[in-house]
Amino acid sequence: NKVLVNDQLMERQEAKVDIEDRGYQFGDGIYEVIRIYSGSMFTGKEHIDRLFESAKKIHLELPFSEEILTKKLQELMEVNQLQTGIIYLQVTRGASPRQHHFPDNDVKAVFTAYTKEVPRPEKQMTEGVTAIVADDIRWLRCDIKSLNLLGNLLAKQEAMSKGSYEAVLHRDSTVTEGSSSNIFIIKNDELRTHPATNLILNGITRREILRLCSDIGLSYKEEAFTLDEMYKADEVFMASTTAEVMPLVQVGDTVVGDRTPGKWTKELQKAFLGAIQ
Ligand code: PDD
Repeated sequence: NKVLVNDQLMERQEAKVDIEDRGYQFGDGIYEVIRIYSGSMFTGKEHIDRLFESAKKIHLELPFSEEILTKKLQELMEVNQLQTGIIYLQVTRGASPRQHHFPDNDVKAVFTAYTKEVPRPEKQMTEGVTAIVADDIRWLRCDIKSLNLLGNLLAKQEAMSKGSYEAVLHRDSTVTEGSSSNIFIIKNDELRTHPATNLILNGITRREILRLCSDIGLSYKEEAFTLDEMYKADEVFMASTTAEVMPLVQVGDTVVGDRTPGKWTKELQKAFLGAIQ
């Protein structure tokens, strides 16, 4: 399998990262995960647009245009003959002697990308998964898809160690998002999810789901909800590029509905499948 380093396709073993790369030392960079279905990118443009937005928010100048990047990713996918999986891509502020402030303009951003086969999580989507609840201890710019993920990792690890799939994060009892997903509840035939503020990543899957709500006739509100409202919801699910529409059948100690995926969640899964085919 080939990987991309800046504009070069190469073997993974040939790819090198400088020990003073700012991504490696500070997490000073941004990333995206794009889904590949049947050999093509799903919502590729949305992901690439979001990468450019993240770059702007951290004052990082990207070394390519959207068109060139799209072409490069296309090439990578094709040489690796990827059918179902992901493209991971990241850009760091480059390599320069360690100092907190940004380096001079002659230091170029470093881009890397690779592909990975990732099956759709069909069994989990059919049966549903469980989540723990954890304090959202992250910073206040969660809208940036930054490489700094320690807050997310600590929450995910806690979930894993307790045998759960995800951690639902909250600030003072207001649910924000998952450690690597967005969170949705449905109560009395209405869907709710946190608005796209600085406190969450505005997921591409999230946007797709809100679009699909209109298609299937489910009304929705982008309005924050509390832990208590989540515990009392008819249905709860999480969503991300890799997990798609993933039912949560237990959150913390609370069983959701009858511990099986709810009717609207299943409707959304069906609509999502339609969108990716
Ligand atoms: N995670 N919120 C957070 C904190 C995330 O890390 C992600 C995605 C999402 C969902 O975004 P999207 O629908 O655009 O994938 C929300 C990716 C998949 C990851 O880090 O692997």
